[in-house]
Amino acid sequence: MFSESSARPEFEPINSEAVEIAFDNAESTAKKSKKAKLIDKKTTEKLTERPVDMTFVDAKISDAKIEAKIAEKIAESKTESKVDKTEAKPAAKSVADLTLYDIPGVGATTAEKLAEAGFDTPIGIAVATPGELVEATGMSEVVARKMINFCRQNMSMGFENGDTILERRKTVQKISTGVKPFDDLLGGGMETGAITECFGEFGSSKTQIGHVLCVQMLKAYPDSYAVYVDTEKTFRPERIIELARGIGIDPEFALQHIKVAKAYNSDHQMLLVEKVEELITKQKIPVKLLVVDSLTAHFRAEFVGRGTLATRQQKLNKHMHSMSKIADLYNVCVYVTNQVMAKPDQFFGDPTQAIGGHIVAHASTFRLYLRKGKKGCRVAKLIDSPNMPDGEVAYMVTTEGLMEVSF
Ligand code: GTP
Ligand code: MG
Repeated sequence: MFSESSARPEFEPINSEAVEIAFDNAESTAKKSKKAKLIDKKTTEKLTERPVDMTFVDAKISDAKIEAKIAEKIAESKTESKVDKTEAKPAAKSVADLTLYDIPGVGATTAEKLAEAGFDTPIGIAVATPGELVEATGMSEVVARKMINFCRQNMSMGFENGDTILERRKTVQKISTGVKPFDDLLGGGMETGAITECFGEFGSSKTQIGHVLCVQMLKAYPDSYAVYVDTEKTFRPERIIELARGIGIDPEFALQHIKVAKAYNSDHQMLLVEKVEELITKQKIPVKLLVVDSLTAHFRAEFVGRGTLATRQQKLNKHMHSMSKIADLYNVCVYVTNQVMAKPDQFFGDPTQAIGGHIVAHASTFRLYLRKGKKGCRVAKLIDSPNMPDGEVAYMVTTEGLMEVSF
């Protein structure tokens, strides 16, 4: 089933059992990597038509078992949702916690139809028109109006005084890049409570920055953890060891404090990110950094052609939203990498453009464009930030980390 990502129906955010085993300590990844070649070879022989990374799916659980578990979870969640509905206490919930099932009159079928049409949150319904809901679900206009009104009434618009926000800003922490001018460009480093996106061509150092942030975060906040969602199989524990040595922290300690999970398709990637919330709330792991490298590669590969663009953007939107929520609620620094594509119609300036369009652009708090510079250096250009002026900085990727360069 995992191989048929494109043929699969909508993402079901309930496969929690299957990812329970997802986050490995980087240390065990290092140990595993010795055996990896052997295992990889055997797995590829067995699964020639399905080149998924089986090292991620724990050997304890086979695909069939996972499928059975998913079916179980779906059934469970449906009954749970029904129970929720009868005991619904929407007034006690904040709008962020409301689900479709909290809306009076919405059962499993209606919820499914609404979600299919893109109305997968009460906020979406609050801003919809009755006509749109009628078209999406076939419900009567009166019911649609009632639903919209309910959602609007239960939406706290969330106005806050500026001083409250200023107070909250004091909890923002910064993660250094190891390069002073780079940190200055960002106002002291990458912020917690925000999403920072780096986009650039291959080799522009997006992945290296992800690794550097992990060790820098652990140096500054040794009680915290980093979570690395690796979609391109480019996480290297060996690199973490080098970088940890480079800034004088124990490599073993660093590896133990980085939780790594490989995402083998976009649904899995989304699920892993949602799972981070559970790591924080249920497993009480103090996560301060979430790296998603690469944010868009799976989406780009799975949704090919103009016809799939709307679905892709909808999913990306949802994904960005869950990252934004994690950043906000748990004061986590979210770092995502993004690729670029050529803009054939651009004759002046840089003919490259980030993947993911406005959805990714708007959801990212800070956006940096990375490119290769003179003499092997890399250049980071801040192109979007809520409080810092745009600017550029050059640096070099070395064995020990990022180094400042001046020409
Ligand atoms: P894609 O993922 O392919 O889009 O590229 P990227 O932007 O993630 O590039 P990445 O961060 O993987 O590599 C950037 C550059 O860092 C490389 O071109 C190398 O010059 C350098 N680099 C990568 N790995 C190492 C390393 O282990 N040691 C040193 N000294 N440099 C490295
Ligand atoms: Mg990379």
